[in-house]
Amino acid sequence: MGYRKFLFLLFVCFCQFSFSSSIPHLCHKDQSTALLKFKKTLTVDSSLVTCSSYSYTSSWNRSRDCCSWDGVICDEMTGHVIQLNLSCSGLVGKIDSNSSLFQLSHLQRLDLSSNNFSNSHISPEFGRFSSLTLLDLSDSYFSGHIPSEISHLSQLQSLHLSPSFETILRLTAHDLTLLLQNLTQLRELDLTSINISSTIPPNFSSHLTTLRMGNTGLYGIIPESIFHLPNLETLVLQNNNQLTGYFPKTKWNSSASLIELDLSGVNFSDNLPESIGYLTSVHSLSLKNCKLRGPIPESLLNLTRIEDLDLQYNSLNGTIPSGMFSLPSLSRLVLSNNQFSGQFEDFNSNSLIWIDLSNNQLQGPLPKLIQNHVNLTGLILSFNNFSGHVDVSLFADLKQLYYLDLSYNHISLTNENKHNVTLPGSLMSLQLAACEVKELEFLRSAKLLWHLDLSNNRIQGRIPDWAWSNWMFSLQRLNLSHNMLQGVDSIPLLSIEAIDLRSNLLQGSLPIPPISTRFFFISRNNLSEEIPSDICNLTSLVMLDLARNNLKGEIPQCLGYISSLEVLDMHHNILSGTLPTTFRIGSALKSFNFRGNKLEGKIPQSLTNCKQLDVLDLGDNNLNDTFPVWLGTLPKLKVLSLRSNKLHGSIKTLPTGNMFPQLRILDLSSNAFTKSLPTSLLQHLKAMRTVDQTMNAPSDEGNRYYQDSVALVTKGLELEVVRILFLYTTVDLSNNKFEGYIPSIMGDLIALRVLNLSHNGLQGHIPSSLGSLSSVESLDLSGNHLVGEIPAQFASLTSLEVLNLSYNHLEGCIPQGKQFHTFENNSYEGNDRLRGFPLSEGCGNDSETNDTTSGLDDEENDSEFLNDFWKAALMGYGSGLCIGLSIIYIMFSTGNPRWLARIIVELEHKIMMGRRKKQQKQRSDKRRNNSLA
Ligand SMILES: *[C@@H]1O[C@H](CO)[C@@H](O)[C@H](O)[C@H]1NC(C)=O
Ligand SMILES: *[C@@H]1O[C@H](CO)[C@@H](O)[C@H](O)[C@H]1NC(C)=O
Ligand SMILES: *[C@@H]1O[C@H](CO)[C@@H](O)[C@H](O)[C@H]1NC(C)=O
Ligand SMILES: *[C@@H]1O[C@H](CO)[C@@H](O)[C@H](O)[C@H]1NC(C)=O
Ligand SMILES: *[C@@H]1O[C@H](CO)[C@@H](O)[C@H](O)[C@H]1NC(C)=O
Ligand SMILES: *[C@@H]1O[C@H](CO)[C@@H](O)[C@H](O)[C@H]1NC(C)=O
Repeated sequence: MGYRKFLFLLFVCFCQFSFSSSIPHLCHKDQSTALLKFKKTLTVDSSLVTCSSYSYTSSWNRSRDCCSWDGVICDEMTGHVIQLNLSCSGLVGKIDSNSSLFQLSHLQRLDLSSNNFSNSHISPEFGRFSSLTLLDLSDSYFSGHIPSEISHLSQLQSLHLSPSFETILRLTAHDLTLLLQNLTQLRELDLTSINISSTIPPNFSSHLTTLRMGNTGLYGIIPESIFHLPNLETLVLQNNNQLTGYFPKTKWNSSASLIELDLSGVNFSDNLPESIGYLTSVHSLSLKNCKLRGPIPESLLNLTRIEDLDLQYNSLNGTIPSGMFSLPSLSRLVLSNNQFSGQFEDFNSNSLIWIDLSNNQLQGPLPKLIQNHVNLTGLILSFNNFSGHVDVSLFADLKQLYYLDLSYNHISLTNENKHNVTLPGSLMSLQLAACEVKELEFLRSAKLLWHLDLSNNRIQGRIPDWAWSNWMFSLQRLNLSHNMLQGVDSIPLLSIEAIDLRSNLLQGSLPIPPISTRFFFISRNNLSEEIPSDICNLTSLVMLDLARNNLKGEIPQCLGYISSLEVLDMHHNILSGTLPTTFRIGSALKSFNFRGNKLEGKIPQSLTNCKQLDVLDLGDNNLNDTFPVWLGTLPKLKVLSLRSNKLHGSIKTLPTGNMFPQLRILDLSSNAFTKSLPTSLLQHLKAMRTVDQTMNAPSDEGNRYYQDSVALVTKGLELEVVRILFLYTTVDLSNNKFEGYIPSIMGDLIALRVLNLSHNGLQGHIPSSLGSLSSVESLDLSGNHLVGEIPAQFASLTSLEVLNLSYNHLEGCIPQGKQFHTFENNSYEGNDRLRGFPLSEGCGNDSETNDTTSGLDDEENDSEFLNDFWKAALMGYGSGLCIGLSIIYIMFSTGNPRWLARIIVELEHKIMMGRRKKQQKQRSDKRRNNSLA
């Protein structure tokens, strides 16, 4: 080798060495300028840097070559910036179309995810990065329309655009199609939570490995071709409830590529097919709420790699194949809210850590081998028919267990080795409602609990001190309702949010929980004495239920200052004095119930500050006021009961404006109102003028803590309607001193189920317009001075079950028709000049009609409405004829679906009307038979 040649080689080496590492300005000036400009348009919020706790741009400055800046990668040959990774670096600010970012035209990978670009629109300029293979703009507070220019990025392999929480990104159906047509290299596509509202186009890149389009408003049918994409590993279409799917019935996923499949919420309305067994590589399968039915196919046991299986909220039935629990990789099994039956057999598994079988029809004892599954963290078996004694020792060795729920089975929890065995100390949520728990010794080790439900058990006496101290720091929700507790002096729980002590035997004064309390229920006890004004220390209180105790004295005025308070219920106590007058503008109050106390004085005008109010029940007190017409301005008021007070004067409102627009229950009975019926009031009441068919869907969702209640007299029964029956539309003006005519406008309230005008001084004819009340089930006009005939239109009131026209001066023929054959003499008595069936004096044209009525007397012949009550009767509250029969009814309430709610009807009074009717029918049949004989 010659000397020159050696020198030349040395030179080449030197050049390569220095160009590749240390020569400054490898980075093109325009590129570093563009980056620095870009940096300048943004600020860094280090509180945002939660994911990486690192801000890349802090290293960007002119003293270093831009290719060595954090997050920047240059092409080694050309020096162009080809990758920019600024994911999660706390960037805040706008990126608009003239951002210097778009001068980095050689970019191949651009990751701006998890920053805050302050609702910037995604600029069409992004479409100019023609070499881009990866674009990630997810969770960075971009909003608005995704520009169609994105589909110019024909080299893209990976596209992630899902928006941040509560920001809205839209993609048109047309642009989605374009995107899929042009981006033929796509491997990963994540459009989660983008508002697309389109069908799914059938042409996807065959390279596709990941497709995430959950929660995008997709509709139509999932093209089967998606299931056959040869490289697909992840398919997530969850939460598109207008989407319909059909599983391939034949072999699919032949390259066994699929690892994650989440089709939750997609409507399948079918059995799980055998072909599910072809997903042999799947690790995670979620088919929650897919309207699946029928049994679990045996082929599911072929999914030997599966770790997470979620089939909750379907209608799957049959037995759970015993092999399911032993699938070798399965760690999380969720089969809740189905209709599985059979037993929960013993099983062996080294992988299961979470089992949720709640809300099924499983029966028999719990498997003994549970005690060996030492890695279990969650076991949820509530709402089944499991039975037998379950000893605490079954769970004692499960040292990882933090969630245990055995509520509402037929289980009796025992603790044979009381002083040595407890539930594991790891428990954080423990629900043992209705498990025949008698004492708490088994909770000695549980010091981490944040949720404890021991309701509907047999716990007596007092809560031991050691338990309070175990719970002091962690417990947030405590339910001890429906036990036999006798005393709770203080509630030393520093983190508590919800306490339920309803239906115990608590005596003495009201204990005041800590200020963290938001929900406090202590109704149906024997508490006495005054309500301490310390209750107002609870400034976060949302619901306060002190009903049905013996609390006396005045209501603390300061309650009006608790701005978070939504429910204030003190009905059936012995409270005296006046109502609080301190409600302020912006009050959150929705329900205000002081029925059945000894309150005096006026109805506080400050209630008009409670614009959210939907239930106001002040009945059965001694209030002395005129009609609070100003309540008509409350836009959401649905229930107004002022019955049995000393209210007086005439009722007038202005006929114009929009008063009481939502009112469905108006009870002014048993007061001293005078003058004519409130025609001007009746001209409002918009909600009573339309029959809303959508209000028939019962649901047990909603507020599990509390039900509103109101007492009503209907069909001869006093009902306590709890968590308002919005199906229930009533006007009760009975037992007042109203005079004059019944206004014919009353016939416009076509949604009315109950109309009671009895025991007033009403005169004149019954307006024929009342024949338009097609929903009316109970109509009581008795005890007035009404004259003339019963309008013939009444014959068309086919919903009518209870008619009382007695003690008036009616005359002429009783209308005939199907419904009218069911009414007895007592509907008409005290009207000397009425004729026709069922009164003895004939009316010329009526024939013997007992054949047609004979089918009616067997059953209680109640309307669908009342039947639904009986159907939903909560068992165990005494027999039908008893005073105090309680019924839970679940019903739809309008508006906010969170308030879809549960309704309890309590019969407090007399006997069930249906039974009475039946007995009367039998008596009159007997009379008729006797006279025939
Ligand atoms: C598809 O990509 C090519 C570049 O490969 C581009 O020229 C064309 O405009 C794109 N089409 C659409 C509709 O975006
Ligand atoms: C499940 O595995 C069994 C053998 O273990 C095989 O006979 C059957 O065809 C498989 N079913 C499916 C659907 O893959
Ligand atoms: C499962 O439900 C179907 C109706 O979807 C019914 O025909 C079948 O009898 C049920 N099977 C069992 C075991 O309950
Ligand atoms: C519990 O977990 C350990 C460690 O992961 C494992 O070795 C053991 O087999 C598991 N036991 C059971 C019963 O699941
Ligand atoms: C229970 O613990 C006590 C000591 O606290 C011990 O004397 C007794 O033998 C233990 N009983 C059982 C059954 O383990
Ligand atoms: C309520 O607050 C008052 C004044 O801050 C205080 O004196 C009282 O002890 C508190 N009561 C309770 C039960 O915390």
